[in-house]
Amino acid sequence: MSELVKNWTEWLKSSRFSYMNEVQKQQAVLWLFNVRDKVLERACLKEGDTVLDVGTGTGLLGFGAYEAINGAGKVILSDAFADCLVECRKIAEQSEITEGIEFLQSDASDIKLAENSVDVVVMRSVLVHIQDKLPAIREFNRILKDGGRISIFEPIIRQNTKYYELIDPDNFPEYQKIKDVENKISSDMNDPLVNFDEHTLGQDFIKAGFKNIDIRVSTESSTYVVDPAMIDPWFNTPPSPDRPPLKQRFIEFMPEIEVNEFLERLKTYLGGKSITLNSPSAYIYAEK
Ligand SMILES: C[S@@+](CC[C@H](N)C(=O)[O-])C[C@H]1O[C@@H](n2cnc3c(N)ncnc32)[C@H](O)[C@@H]1O
Repeated sequence: MSELVKNWTEWLKSSRFSYMNEVQKQQAVLWLFNVRDKVLERACLKEGDTVLDVGTGTGLLGFGAYEAINGAGKVILSDAFADCLVECRKIAEQSEITEGIEFLQSDASDIKLAENSVDVVVMRSVLVHIQDKLPAIREFNRILKDGGRISIFEPIIRQNTKYYELIDPDNFPEYQKIKDVENKISSDMNDPLVNFDEHTLGQDFIKAGFKNIDIRVSTESSTYVVDPAMIDPWFNTPPSPDRPPLKQRFIEFMPEIEVNEFLERLKTYLGGKSITLNSPSAYIYAEK
């Protein structure tokens, strides 16, 4: 586990926003709510449903699902990590929710629920943290009732804008090296964050027995002026509690001194410039 982030709750509540200014934080939160609404809308939730939120974190989807079914039915907030469920229990208590909600500590690849026991599975940004995604997707199929629905969102990080796409080779003597390193990092099949895309997920859903699979890719573009002070946090913030920050990944492929020189050049070059970052994501809906 990273030294910078002790647990998932801390990462969800603060670390993932640590490199953003206030305006960017507000935009990120709005974006999260939009994603939540789209995942829940595609799940076609209705009163009486039993809904499982896999990898609930701080309950973004789960509490939204509870509202969508009007508290009539059951929402199971599940996560592999206890700290997330402690946080969700606190939120439930503060919101005076006492019925129709359950908490389940379970790994997505080994869900402690009976087969055919759930009407709907919802999930956001969880497979991206699991090395072998197919066993988890098979698990979702096992616990869903016949005709049950699944609606998920996963970021396709391997297709995000790369740093080498933001710089001019004439200003960076190490341009080709940086390009090679970024291409290696973003195609590393041993890194759960990048070892998949919408096509491999689609194949996994078919293998797991799902039908009526609908995959929509949506690309979020954010344009802003770079403050040089953002660049160190970009490279030093862990992408999850159990994965190394980007700088550490670079150091696996090039000497640290060269990485530091690149970062200094990047600050001078990008500082004050307007950049656009593209981040594609997949919304997947399927039925058992
Ligand atoms: C990026 S967070 C997303 C949290 C939440 N779904 C949301 O949208 O805010 C990833 C979540 O997946 C959980 N997680 C990671 N690996 C998991 C696994 N193997 N099984 C179940 N949950 C897992 C983490 O604890 C964390 O809560």
